[in-house]
Amino acid sequence: MSKILYVTSEAFPLIKTGGLADVAGSLPTALLKQSQDVHLLLPAYPEVLSKINKSKKLSTSTYYGLPVQIIETHLPGSKVIVWLVDCPAAFNRPGGPYADKHGRAWHDNALRFAVFCHAAVDIALNQLEIGWQPDIVHCNDWQTGLIPALLSLYPKRPATIFTIHNLAYQGLFDRQTFIDLHLPAELWQMNGLEFYDQLSFIKGGLAYADEITTVSPSYAREILQPEYGYGLDGLLNNRRQHLTGILNGIDEKYWNPGTDKHLKQKYNRRTLSKKSINKTELQQKLSLPVDASIFMIGMVSRLVEQKGLDIILQSLPTLLTLPIQLVILGTGETHYEIILSEWAQRYPDRLKVIIGYDEPLAHMIEAASDVYLMPSTFEPCGLNQLYSLRYGTLPIATPVGGLADTVTDATKTNIENDTANGFVVKTQSAATLLTTLQDALTLYQKPEIWRQLQTNAMSGDFSWQASAGRYITLYQQMLAES
Ligand code: ADP
Ligand code: GLC
Repeated sequence: MSKILYVTSEAFPLIKTGGLADVAGSLPTALLKQSQDVHLLLPAYPEVLSKINKSKKLSTSTYYGLPVQIIETHLPGSKVIVWLVDCPAAFNRPGGPYADKHGRAWHDNALRFAVFCHAAVDIALNQLEIGWQPDIVHCNDWQTGLIPALLSLYPKRPATIFTIHNLAYQGLFDRQTFIDLHLPAELWQMNGLEFYDQLSFIKGGLAYADEITTVSPSYAREILQPEYGYGLDGLLNNRRQHLTGILNGIDEKYWNPGTDKHLKQKYNRRTLSKKSINKTELQQKLSLPVDASIFMIGMVSRLVEQKGLDIILQSLPTLLTLPIQLVILGTGETHYEIILSEWAQRYPDRLKVIIGYDEPLAHMIEAASDVYLMPSTFEPCGLNQLYSLRYGTLPIATPVGGLADTVTDATKTNIENDTANGFVVKTQSAATLLTTLQDALTLYQKPEIWRQLQTNAMSGDFSWQASAGRYITLYQQMLAES
């Protein structure tokens, strides 16, 4: 059994902006089930504080003159212990974890997450005398990047592991911020926190963590190439002996069409014919023409370039002439929100665009749709294609990152050998996306084949069991080496 401090800036159901929260809300529980002693460390945002009922104060400290308390609570619906870094000056404000309600990044993000990292470091070194010291500190994404860097300065310290969920978000700030944060001067170097004369939080993880992981084997290979490396491929190549791709799992209790409380009609592999009741229900709810036979395409996503929004927009003029319904739920960059909403006004019977964040609706769309649209330009893992597979909703996805590792194209051979579970958009272009959608529409007219594809999709094992085991093996190797 290892003692693991799992450090994250979001964790479902306490606070979520994307897939990181899903992972941080489910992997620790899976680790606990496999007998690991895991504590989750999270900032005490107001939304988090509003969702917990029992809590107790563990310690008090000060960073940059700001008072900080560590508060103990539990992850709702799980036995995982959560420690909250409660620093009102940094975290108690309306808006999101990283940005205000207009989507503008908080001006003091460097300070906010430096406070968070210092608190983690003090826990890791047992400076707060909480009575529990981790063997392993497991960090996630740039918000936690300073932790491995700061810990590297101590000879006696826990082992560190840094998971990249998305290399595109790096936590870059100017050089003055490095000075203002009083970070040790020896960390300012090319193989350290410096990135083209800027302070890079993510480099703290990539340069100093004992082990680096990312969330799919394919993405682990891709980020070694300049095309996907965002300027960090050189450093990652230097550290490739310590870089592993471990595919994310899903929370099978929460994303299960057989028990999903958000669905009008629950279903499973044997009762697949009932799935379409969710379609007609959603059509009614969204004022779309009600017809169970219409080919419904769903998408629930951050509306950003990564998710293939550009080729989706380019394909709309043709796509919306086909006998389909397209339902998109998302928030993100304003121009995508505006253009999509304009198209939806022009084609009210074929396109619904819901701008907003809506967890129950996300489940309904997964269950109602026939196919799920995910033509990402890159995708470290992707969880929505995994939810779609579980719901018998066939992904239409580009062969990148975790999509390449989980979606098997409906080619003739793959259909014959019962491995096909979706449709691969072989190149990032509107033309290819349209051809792929046409192919899917053609197969949809062949109910027996379609049913087989759905069954293949629903038979996949995307539970955490295997992947949590891989993390544990890595933890054990790290401990043996230290
Ligand atoms: P990413 O983390 O890059 O955004 P993932 O596919 O890993 O992509 O995870 C996205 C998660 O966020 C999924 O659980 C998805 O359902 C959820 N999500 C994204 N946008 C919304 C939204 N507007 N409403 C509800 N859930 C959303
Ligand atoms: C990131 C990635 C996504 C991944 C998620 C969880 O947000 O964009 O592909 O599934 O993290 O690891």
